[in-house]
Amino acid sequence: MKLHTGMGSNEQNHLTISGCDAVALARQYGTPLYIIDEALVRSNCRAFKQAMHKHLGGGRVMYASKAFMNKAICRVVASEGLGIDVVSGGELFTALEAGISPDLIELHGNNKTPEELEMAIEQNIYRIIIDGFDELDLIEKIAKEKGKKDIPLSIRLRPNIEAHTHEAIQTAKLDCKFGLGILDGQALAAAKRIIGSPYMSLKGIHCHIGSQIFEVSPYGVLMEHFTTFADILRRETGVVLEEFNCGGGFGVWYVGSDDPKSFDAYIEEIATHLHQRCAEINYPVPTVSIEPGRSIIGAAGTTMYTAGGVKEIKGVRTYVSVDGGMFENVRTAMYGSKYTALAAARMDEEHTHKQSIAGKCCESGDMIVWDALLPEIKVGDTLAVLTTGAYNYSMASNYNRNAVPAVVFVKDGKSALAVRRQTYEYIAANDLIPDYLK
Ligand code: LLP
Repeated sequence: MKLHTGMGSNEQNHLTISGCDAVALARQYGTPLYIIDEALVRSNCRAFKQAMHKHLGGGRVMYASKAFMNKAICRVVASEGLGIDVVSGGELFTALEAGISPDLIELHGNNKTPEELEMAIEQNIYRIIIDGFDELDLIEKIAKEKGKKDIPLSIRLRPNIEAHTHEAIQTAKLDCKFGLGILDGQALAAAKRIIGSPYMSLKGIHCHIGSQIFEVSPYGVLMEHFTTFADILRRETGVVLEEFNCGGGFGVWYVGSDDPKSFDAYIEEIATHLHQRCAEINYPVPTVSIEPGRSIIGAAGTTMYTAGGVKEIKGVRTYVSVDGGMFENVRTAMYGSKYTALAAARMDEEHTHKQSIAGKCCESGDMIVWDALLPEIKVGDTLAVLTTGAYNYSMASNYNRNAVPAVVFVKDGKSALAVRRQTYEYIAANDLIPDYLK
């Protein structure tokens, strides 16, 4: 069976993660439980930094916090020298509360609210990546009010690249809500608008092609688009861009057939095409930024469950219901995502028996893993689902008023609580009974 780096099993045949017994953690903290291998997060951060250094002589690695956001992860990635990419006031607030320096933070979003922009401008964050013309009006207005000048901006481009991944997570094709078009002249018009304003300063361009991308070639194609755009901009305005931000999207392993490239291979592709094109058009090589989310945190996350009812529908399927569900992992229901499951206390047994892991929410699409291969599961067994670090906790909800599980960080045999499990009191805390109903 394939396990992630840092995983193994001990003499009790329990799954171990960074030297901690995952079954013991499930008992100690309760299930469902998100476990994050901090050691793996750190080594992923270092692998990106090293690849950037090797192929590009440096650059910026901005952790895309939408993948998994809380104060503890901010501290971990910042201590590895990464910046933080936020996409909402809530993420910005969390990063600031965690003590992250504003000059390590960039703000994204296709509809940043006035409050979000005010917060970003007030705090003098490193970069705002703009996604439309209305936003420029707002930034100028806020800058005037706050007496700020030269707010550092990048423009998110939509170059019409179709990467092979799930439709819902492709973000650079022509018909998409993100970015400004290159071919229709929108991006150039926005650039000129920024260049002409004393309140804004154009630093770079950005594109996020999509997520869970296994090929390296779309990143090379992106460099062609970036350099062509930058060249036209230079010709028309004389402005030379400082930064090319290539977004995230680097794929990770979830199930048997997945075959992601090394982080180094993506960065090498970017560097090769960038250097070649810059030489061709005689353009000073800009600083490269990347925004990995899933590739930093995905494999580092494991979700622990306790099996409840087992229901065999003869000749059809066996459902094993667990104490989690789409409220803590919506990806199977939402994208048809696939995961690998393990019987975490029976690691020595063959995982060959087909059973489907169902959540406890009130709808039949609430599945965690269809047709998982496991030993024959009994009530009370502890299950582990791998590669749940990205977009599980961050997309959790209170559907059916279930509590979002706790998050535990593990590293070198030690564990620490990073997010408390929600309580029912917490879930109901904002509910009011209007007077007329009393
Ligand atoms: N930068 C930007 C501007 C993004 O929009 C994203 C992801 C990233 C970076 C990070 O991408 P990553 O390295 O994590 O692939 N909920 C979906 C994924 C949505 C990704 C949205 N943007 C899922 O569960 O697969």
